[in-house]
Amino acid sequence: MHKPSLAFFVDLEPALEDFQDSVISGLLATPKNLACKFFYDDAGLDLFGKICETEEYYVTRTETAMLRELGPALAALAGPGCTVVELGAGSDLKIRLLLDALERPAQYVPIDISQGPLRKAALSIAVDYPAVRVGAICADFTAKIELPDDMIAENTGQRLGFFPGSTIGNFSREDAKTFLSGLRPLLGPKGALLIGVDLQKDTARLNAAYNDAAGYTAAFNLNILHRIARDLDTDLDPDDFEHCAFYNEAQGRIEMHLRSLRNQRVRIGERAFDIAESEMIHTENSHKFTLDGFVEIAEAAGYVGTARWTDAENLFSIHYLTIAG
Ligand SMILES: C[S@@+](CC[C@H](N)C(=O)[O-])C[C@H]1O[C@@H](n2cnc3c(N)ncnc32)[C@H](O)[C@@H]1O
Repeated sequence: MHKPSLAFFVDLEPALEDFQDSVISGLLATPKNLACKFFYDDAGLDLFGKICETEEYYVTRTETAMLRELGPALAALAGPGCTVVELGAGSDLKIRLLLDALERPAQYVPIDISQGPLRKAALSIAVDYPAVRVGAICADFTAKIELPDDMIAENTGQRLGFFPGSTIGNFSREDAKTFLSGLRPLLGPKGALLIGVDLQKDTARLNAAYNDAAGYTAAFNLNILHRIARDLDTDLDPDDFEHCAFYNEAQGRIEMHLRSLRNQRVRIGERAFDIAESEMIHTENSHKFTLDGFVEIAEAAGYVGTARWTDAENLFSIHYLTIAG
């Protein structure tokens, strides 16, 4: 039987020491925080998949329905023989919709910080799309990332970045501009970026989306503590914390925190941290944008807003950005 393989797999997954350093520097900060890029181990990604299926979390079903509908428009914009570079791929759900829509996509490179899920998703695309050359890069996408030379040389079609799921919302508005600007060399001067961006809406709906009744978002948020307890030298007990998520109207963002249930001293490696009862550890921001507000950020980052779409309820937007000049 033919065994599927990847054209390449670049492994720059952060080492355990990097995870520990990040946790320590977050707990030394005021207010305390943990980096959301470490949410997605196998368990975290599994929980995220469950969140995506809840009634409350409109993001995934709205974006996938839009991608299905936009297929012909996207194919016309991107042209034949594309190289698709996906940022924060996670699962292979959305890329299938894009690859199905595009005309003879030539190459696909998912980039993600979590090695296991990335390898699995890339292999499943390699199996189901034998005409597409698939290679993967396990790395922090905020670092400078380069495609292998032969990927660029062999490619005749457009380079298309794909950044779904409103993961851009994890950045502050200023950091989103810096990140998008830093992506331009990866996309090349004739490249484009297809990006999913969540919109500002009714506060109750936003709060519900991050506090689902089944408790998957709570488990997802707490999972970072389980990861710390499992992988690092620590006496931290995840049961001493609870999930807290709310819309911060002034900042236009959902904030996720872990609230300490008691006064406690937590040891990580050689260091100890005092955490007061009710003290919050900030774990994630999900900024919500207006359509014009996002286009302004993209333009400041050196892109042209070539096309943008919203769903009928104005919950979510998808933007096709091209490189300015
Ligand atoms: C919110 S999930 C989105 C998954 C999927 N793209 C979607 O649209 O549903 C974010 C994904 O980005 C990855 N990720 C988060 N921060 C990252 C970083 N700094 N560098 C690379 N990947 C990152 C996570 O591992 C995860 O797979």
